[in-house]
Amino acid sequence: MPDNSAALLREPRGALVVDRVPVPVPAEDEVVVRVRAAAVNPVDWVIQGTGPVTYRWLRTPAVLGSDVAGEVVAVGSGVTRFAVGDRVVGLATGTDRGRDPVHEGAFQEHTALLERLTAAVPDDVPLEQAAVLPLGASTAACALFQPKHLGLPLPGAADAPSDRSGVVVVWGGSTSVGMNAVQLARAAGYAVVSTASPRNAATVRSLGAEVVVDHGSPTAVDDLVAGVAGRPVVGAVALGTTSTAACIEVLRRTGGTALAMASTPVSLDRIAGRRRLFPAMLPVFTRLGLATLALTLRARRAGIRAAFVWGSSLRDDDLGPELWGRVLPEGLADGSIRPMPEPLVVGHGPGAVQGAIDRQRAGVSARKVVVTL
Ligand SMILES: NC(=O)c1ccc[n+]([C@@H]2O[C@H](COP(=O)([O-])OP(=O)(O)OC[C@H]3O[C@@H](n4cnc5c(N)ncnc54)[C@H](OP(=O)(O)O)[C@@H]3O)[C@@H](O)[C@H]2O)c1
Repeated sequence: MPDNSAALLREPRGALVVDRVPVPVPAEDEVVVRVRAAAVNPVDWVIQGTGPVTYRWLRTPAVLGSDVAGEVVAVGSGVTRFAVGDRVVGLATGTDRGRDPVHEGAFQEHTALLERLTAAVPDDVPLEQAAVLPLGASTAACALFQPKHLGLPLPGAADAPSDRSGVVVVWGGSTSVGMNAVQLARAAGYAVVSTASPRNAATVRSLGAEVVVDHGSPTAVDDLVAGVAGRPVVGAVALGTTSTAACIEVLRRTGGTALAMASTPVSLDRIAGRRRLFPAMLPVFTRLGLATLALTLRARRAGIRAAFVWGSSLRDDDLGPELWGRVLPEGLADGSIRPMPEPLVVGHGPGAVQGAIDRQRAGVSARKVVVTL
């Protein structure tokens, strides 16, 4: 049995420490992967810093991390799509309610992944590049395709439009989720109008956005409405703390009625790093609750259906197998889906993970922080 070294969260809100944990044994519907690259998401520092409030179900010790790329070393008895030695990328959901956060977590040398949330990586795509994909692509797909959100037909579906007459608004096209949303919306047959800083506009355009406006500009909402140019808007995906208010305004002025909200309207950054969570969290959560209520009411008054996205919820519906079993592997193989944003490899080994999480929290621009393992 090989060793398994992990970046372990031993107690709530503690620093990650390198420790040995068991090599997972795959369940019937799982593969076990020798992780070669793991990417960091904002949710990793949110869980580490605020878990006792925001992820109350999470027990420690836990291995954080959602984004995994590596090689399959064992397969469960029911697995049909993968064999030992395959290069794969997948979404680890161990920190979700009811899952096992040591068996399934990115920041360790070996992890289990559900077959239905795993895709093959083509030989010409480096694993540190592939690792940027899982939570970004999954969250974008939930926002665009789940009936609760925009409910669009998937790329390649019989009812997918062919003429790009419908428009998807993606506020935050240069975020990790946004870059995936732009590509997936475009692949599904829609025109995309989006936002980014001027330095990232060309990148977001290269992924398929027709119009990219500066989300820092005071005229950003007007510019997006102009970019829609009177066409039917099938919905908006809101990424970033100010995005929901802006998207409500764009939808109100363009007649769109579906809004997928992926970000809280108040950042948890200010409390995540505090030595004590109480009482610093009280004003932050009060503002968060009030802002969410106000935005929900504003959306309802404008006839907009708005709901929060949970990026790993596709584990339990038909979207997971469709995205991971068809859309992503086909898109990666033919080059129509690029694993974006570009990886920013900041270190190697479980001992580098805490620094990588801190680096993500300090802020990135169109890059995904990655650790190789
Ligand atoms: N609900 C879920 O399940 C779920 C899952 C994943 C992520 N999220 C949330 O989705 C958001 C994006 O996550 P991520 O990992 O994709 O983020 P990320 O890649 O870390 O986001 C960094 C990007 O934010 C952009 N940004 C800065 N100011 C902005 C603004 N005013 N409006 C829009 N974008 C702005 C920056 O673009 P420029 O440099 O071009 O300005 C930067 O590239 C976060 O709030 C995250 O918590 C939610």
